[in-house]
Amino acid sequence: MRKHVHALGGASLLLGVSIIATQAQVLEPTTPPEPPEFAAQSEPNFVGVSEILGFEALDEYHEPEWVTENFVEPGLLPPVEERLPAEPMVYKTSNMPDGIGVYGDVMRHVIGGRPEGWNYIGGQSQGWGGIDIGLSECLTRTGPLFMVNADELEPLPNLAKSWEWSEDGHELTMHLIEGAKWSDGDPFDSEDIMFFWEDNVLDSNVSPLNGATPETFGTGTTLEAVDEYTIKWTFQEERPTQYLYQMAYGTFCPGPSHILKPEHPNYSDNTYEEYKNAFPPDYLNIPVMGGWVPVEYRAEDIIVMRRNPYYWKVDEEGNQLPYLDELHYRLSTWADRDVQTVAGSADFSNLEQPESFVESLRRSAEETAPARLQFGARTIGYALQMNLSANGWGDPDEREQAVRELNRELDFRKAVTSAVDRQRLGNSLVQGPFTAIYPGGLYAGTPFYDRESTAYYPFDLEGANAVLDEMGLEDTDGNGIRNFPEGGEDIEITLLANTDYATDTNVAEAVIAMMQPLGIRVVANFQSGTSRDDSAAAGQFDWQIVRQGAEVASVVQNTVALAPVGPRTHTFHRAGPDGELDLMPFEQELVDIVNEFIATSDTEERVDLMHEFQQVYTENVFAVGLTQYPGALIINKRFANVPAGTPIFQYNWAEDSVIRERLYVPEDQQTDAALFPNTLPGEPGSDGPTEGEPS
Ligand code: GLA
Repeated sequence: MRKHVHALGGASLLLGVSIIATQAQVLEPTTPPEPPEFAAQSEPNFVGVSEILGFEALDEYHEPEWVTENFVEPGLLPPVEERLPAEPMVYKTSNMPDGIGVYGDVMRHVIGGRPEGWNYIGGQSQGWGGIDIGLSECLTRTGPLFMVNADELEPLPNLAKSWEWSEDGHELTMHLIEGAKWSDGDPFDSEDIMFFWEDNVLDSNVSPLNGATPETFGTGTTLEAVDEYTIKWTFQEERPTQYLYQMAYGTFCPGPSHILKPEHPNYSDNTYEEYKNAFPPDYLNIPVMGGWVPVEYRAEDIIVMRRNPYYWKVDEEGNQLPYLDELHYRLSTWADRDVQTVAGSADFSNLEQPESFVESLRRSAEETAPARLQFGARTIGYALQMNLSANGWGDPDEREQAVRELNRELDFRKAVTSAVDRQRLGNSLVQGPFTAIYPGGLYAGTPFYDRESTAYYPFDLEGANAVLDEMGLEDTDGNGIRNFPEGGEDIEITLLANTDYATDTNVAEAVIAMMQPLGIRVVANFQSGTSRDDSAAAGQFDWQIVRQGAEVASVVQNTVALAPVGPRTHTFHRAGPDGELDLMPFEQELVDIVNEFIATSDTEERVDLMHEFQQVYTENVFAVGLTQYPGALIINKRFANVPAGTPIFQYNWAEDSVIRERLYVPEDQQTDAALFPNTLPGEPGSDGPTEGEPS
């Protein structure tokens, strides 16, 4: 059989070349080895959603004494009951590991990212590490679902306190919390929702952080405001409950329309770039719905956040949350986050870089260790993603276009995956039972994973080389690098990776080295997190090393990210300038499977669909899996109410899952680390917090 390279653009170096199909016996997949035993160190106490929280009016409400004395009594702030919604969210005491908390103290975070500004829905990153998670509240919430019974699994209500489906299943009516306010006292209502949807999600000139696009909520889906506190979704699908997960962090978290709207190009003379950048890091006191407001920013040093006096969640005794008055975000490195948290000079880390595992474990095992460290399941992993758009996404030059066409060849992807020695790669990060061979697709730690449906191409350098020979990709000029056919150039591929993490660059270096004996020159294109994210979103990469998202760790969260279901939803295959995707047949299959998964709530059918997904994904090497391993939550021992078994990553990162607004520090263990004690956020855009008037 002779096979033709398909989908060649006019500029292609491969143009018109036909190649001989590889022999069937070369590079046959097998099932992957069982991952080494590594038991999670603590299990969640499983409960139903209604055992965690509800919405109700309580007889009385409380706040920290200094808020009453310095702000309410002098008339600077309305009494707490007037600041809360009619029915605040109430956390159930029985689900709090240590019960009702006390006010005070600080959680000291360290991050390796840097804030671009505060316009989350306009596409700006706040530097990660949970800052945006602390500022933003979303229609639903999924981080804490790790503790919800499997048979009751559905997103927690949040800004949407309840919802119901129409009889035909095409309409979803959501009821927003009533009478809640942004941290500056401005009412929160459906106008905020509609501004997010119409002017940020539907407006393709805006790319909200974490990538909400219309198709994120289903092709043809519409949203309208029924009244101040009611919104209505209309879906093409019948009862697609899966989209409730997309309404959680990070794809449906509205911003303060009263502040953002006047800067949006539809309502001002601003360009889209000016809108995006209208709230730089030194714009303080941006109104939020989250527990804490940024009140101080010192470049390359720290971001300080103070309690939101209008926060709309309480405990069963009516104490307004959060219990913690202040959050710190030290602007340092991700590795420093581990080091400082283990040492006790910071409070919280997701131990996710295997290079730090051994030292962190050793130090945390000491009796005097200030922090506890607990490993969870293998839900952190890396893949090599090839740019599969041959349609002009990212405006490729001739070489880049030729690489993309090569990326679209199954034999090429098979050769690349077979040239990766995953055992060696994992061991180069850390020795021991942590890392496991990851062929690609779903992680072994998810309930939807099925080993038998996983096609694993074992390390076989010889076979890989033979396949490339048969593709006609030979080293015609004898310099050790294969050439494109017909006297073409050396095959040189750039590899985009994030320099904020040692693991990302180490994994990238390993891949670069492993491609050398395959005769492929891979050149590092290492960029800081923010510019990496921008390059990736713009389609400016040949290959990229990626620490993957919740879609492969949980399947139900971020499901739409599993395949290119929309023109702009996917990480490595998007539409070109004409808005069209150029899906290969197996990709269309993946899209169909994902859409079917979204459209059904039949458990067995869903399991079968994901097995099929895994098979199509791995047989076709949609992306090249590299390594998967567990992460550990490190948290200072003085914090109470840390839920058992909190994973660092599953439906969301631990900063969400741990429910920070319920964490507290018992009085006798509180520190004096607060930088702005007894202050509250100031007016939006004003300089720093306000002290009130001590009475
Ligand atoms: C970064 C960190 C993660 C986590 C997230 C939260 O990605 O690497 O551990 O803190 O931010 O968004």
